[in-house]
Amino acid sequence: MAYTVPKLKDFSAAALEKATKKLLSALDEEAAAIETEPDWKTFRDRWMARKDGVLTQVNDLWLKAAPKEAKRHAGQQVNEIKKRVEQAIDVAQNRARGDSASRLDSDRLDITLPGIQRPIGAEHPVIKTMNEIVSVFRNLGYSVQEGPVIETDYYNFEALNFPPNHPARDTQDTLFIANQESKPQRERLLLRTHTSPVQIRTMEKIKPPLRIVIPGKVHRNDPPDASHSPMFHQIEGLAVDTNITFGDLKGTLDHAMKALFGSSVKTHFRPSFFPFTEPSAEMMVSCFICGGSGQRGSEPCRPCKRTGWIEILGCGMVDPNVFEFVKDNGYDPRKVSGFAFGMGADRVALLKYGVDDIQLFFQGDVRFLRQFA
Ligand code: DAH
Repeated sequence: MAYTVPKLKDFSAAALEKATKKLLSALDEEAAAIETEPDWKTFRDRWMARKDGVLTQVNDLWLKAAPKEAKRHAGQQVNEIKKRVEQAIDVAQNRARGDSASRLDSDRLDITLPGIQRPIGAEHPVIKTMNEIVSVFRNLGYSVQEGPVIETDYYNFEALNFPPNHPARDTQDTLFIANQESKPQRERLLLRTHTSPVQIRTMEKIKPPLRIVIPGKVHRNDPPDASHSPMFHQIEGLAVDTNITFGDLKGTLDHAMKALFGSSVKTHFRPSFFPFTEPSAEMMVSCFICGGSGQRGSEPCRPCKRTGWIEILGCGMVDPNVFEFVKDNGYDPRKVSGFAFGMGADRVALLKYGVDDIQLFFQGDVRFLRQFA
């Protein structure tokens, strides 16, 4: 209940002092609750308003109403009350305004201090390149699939038609997870050496027709140097339908290279071998640094080693032996055909940005990375 000023019947010194004590304790209590400026204004008006404030009422009910013999003492009391009310209103106002007298030092704002920098991150150049490649294929109607980096021998090799003793299965190239010897070979875990296992994983899940790209991290047991890293990135592609031909493969990849490197680049296919494609090819693009001439002014062109061509990816028609592994999901090798390709995203980024050491991509030096932001 809010405090109200009582009418006094007894104007004795003791009664006046008792009433004063009650009033002051109400004053302190209300003052302590004030936090904001509007709180404070209400408080001030309640106690000080000329018309009907607490002080005016005290003046009327305790002083004016006092009998003659009590006037002197009542006057002293009312003066004391007035002083205390004014004080309480001052202190409360400082607190409500947040003046330094009542604020913690840590709350104070020093506008002369330098601001806090919050740098905004940016895409890593390799991720940026992967996103660009993916979006070229998205525009052709491809969707994106991903798979695990820790893979089984089955998906990484067996279902991709690698024979049991293929050299890629050797620890020279592949990083195997330790202590797997008790498991059958196909269940043994390794760090995937390419994104191709996701071809199988996707064909197990989705029936043909299929058009997908697969960006991801891969690992190989290669010592790091300017063009090798034990961890790098690939983008895989796979299209399966009825009547897909090598012509579709060439047309699709030629378009993609022009979209990525500029409309004047040419593509060139040369026979190659991969266990999971037949026939297989390596694709080159005409060097977009020297325009295919092999020379930069009087200097030899380094990125294409003066040949005018840059090898950019492996590709081919999906080997029927691969379809055999997913035949039950609609991939009957007599009914469907497809093409696949895989490219190193880091290599594309090196070429695109004219960087000469792949290690720079993975050292996390912000001075280097910032240049691509
Ligand atoms: N997986 C191969 C590698 O890592 C690249 C590759 C070649 C992927 C031909 C393909 C392909 O899909 O058809 O070297």
